[in-house]
Amino acid sequence: MGETLIRCEGIYKYYQLGGQQLEVLHGISLSVDMGEYLAILGPSGSGKSTLMNIIGCMDRFNKGSYSIAGIPVAHLDDEQLTLLRNRLIGFIFQRYHLLPKYTVLQNVMLPLLVRGVPRGQALERAKKKLDMLGMGNRLQHKPNELSGGQQQRVAIARALVGEPKLLLADEPTGALDSSTGKEVLKLFRELNDMGHTIVMITHDLNVATHARRVVRIIDGALYEGDCAEAGPLPVAPSAN
Ligand SMILES: Nc1ncnc2c1ncn2[C@@H]1O[C@H](COP(=O)(O)OP(=O)(O)O)[C@@H](O)[C@H]1O
Ligand SMILES: [Mg+2]
Repeated sequence: MGETLIRCEGIYKYYQLGGQQLEVLHGISLSVDMGEYLAILGPSGSGKSTLMNIIGCMDRFNKGSYSIAGIPVAHLDDEQLTLLRNRLIGFIFQRYHLLPKYTVLQNVMLPLLVRGVPRGQALERAKKKLDMLGMGNRLQHKPNELSGGQQQRVAIARALVGEPKLLLADEPTGALDSSTGKEVLKLFRELNDMGHTIVMITHDLNVATHARRVVRIIDGALYEGDCAEAGPLPVAPSAN
């Protein structure tokens, strides 16, 4: 089968809270192969963001091991972690996180310029991704001149422009109306069909069922499929 992209083994995360130790991830193990489209589904407070921050190399864990693209991250320093993140992961957030002062084109060029890609090349690559996402006719617009769905398309172009190995999306449709949200989810399917590996974090079962594999996180523990601890995987009333 596919090559493993993500491998978490027995990940624990504690927070220190006024002298008390609060354990929020209790030994999470998860493997994701290249080319998968996975949803991590869980209610508020279950540990989704904490796990996403670890998978995204934005935060550290206290016990266990995590490797991405065969690289164990536990002993990397902050600088190495940042480098790894910039090279391997494209992030998509609920509220797009576009820079308001910059145009669509500049927003998408930026990750390449930061990496030292020459300007002309960055311009061509950014244009190409924006074309692919149907935003080629909005290059000079500012984010606030776009609809939410359009802003999310620009954010997706920005996430993809560096050719990351992983697209990591946190509630990517959370700020969109339901029909625009569905368009974004359709786009995710198309990107996955093109070979992109996607991990999407959501609290919404209807959103999660668009992925090709769903795991659940409940109170800091991970469950896959029907299981005694978490009960059967609920069936979404309207998957499409
Ligand atoms: N910086 C922090 N310090 C202390 N507790 C935290 C911190 N961040 C998150 N938590 C706690 O960890 C648990 C999981 O939080 P989080 O990962 O944000 O959940 P979710 O994203 O699923 O809503 C919650 O109980 C939350 O209160
Ligand atoms: Mg969260």
